[in-house]
Amino acid sequence: MRKKLIAANWKMHLVPGEARALVSALIADLGRETFTDREVLVAPAAILIPEVKDALRGSSIILGAQNMFYEEKGAFTGEISPTMLLAYDVYHVIVGHSERRHIFGESDELIGRKVRAAIDHKMTPIVCVGETQQEHDSGRALEVVLRQMEGALGSLTDDEAGGIVMAYEPVWAIGTGRTATPEQAESMQGAIRGAFNERFGRAAAQIVRILYGGSVNADNVDSLLSKPDIDGALVGTASLGADSFARIVRARAAK
Ligand code: PGA
Repeated sequence: MRKKLIAANWKMHLVPGEARALVSALIADLGRETFTDREVLVAPAAILIPEVKDALRGSSIILGAQNMFYEEKGAFTGEISPTMLLAYDVYHVIVGHSERRHIFGESDELIGRKVRAAIDHKMTPIVCVGETQQEHDSGRALEVVLRQMEGALGSLTDDEAGGIVMAYEPVWAIGTGRTATPEQAESMQGAIRGAFNERFGRAAAQIVRILYGGSVNADNVDSLLSKPDIDGALVGTASLGADSFARIVRARAAK
């Protein structure tokens, strides 16, 4: 049984006081419940990590990062290393988000190096893949996702691959309010698990968690999580409100 993961990607939002208030409200809302079948993670902007780490003290909510570079240290202006994240007990990092790919030009090769660095540092990468609207319309979605997977995961052993988290995020669904239907998401996520099976074996395919992301909200999360290959959600917009994110965390999931 795979544990669900409900992950908040706060992107470039919130200043420290706002982040603290959001965490306090989440803890107040969710703190009364214990979830044994799911984990909850928040990924703030890097500069907020110390503040959010402090605000999360005593809570089971996991602290994650939105990005990192693959080198340990050096002349890499503006970048953050795995060691820097580990110094704040950050063991989960989103890698290859479509905004990194499309706005900042990250290549499959760069993303592969970041995934490798995360694994080498005993971190869990949350590896994002997903096709653009144009790729979707021209029937190339699967081909694109498989190429992105090979670029990101090409260096991994079977054991390493089983321990990562994948996130299928169709670019046309991110921040647009146009969620993939549960059937569309399940079809791609089943294909991703199938590709894991072929490339890394049955054990890895059975344990790897595959999230869906792209306009997940309190109204659509239950139907998405009712699908067998959807192991959780990566949530942007709806993670910025304590009420909506807490509702998403409580989503009913497939048994
Ligand atoms: P969204 O973002 O929920 O606002 O669509 C999701 C993401 O980019 O991870």
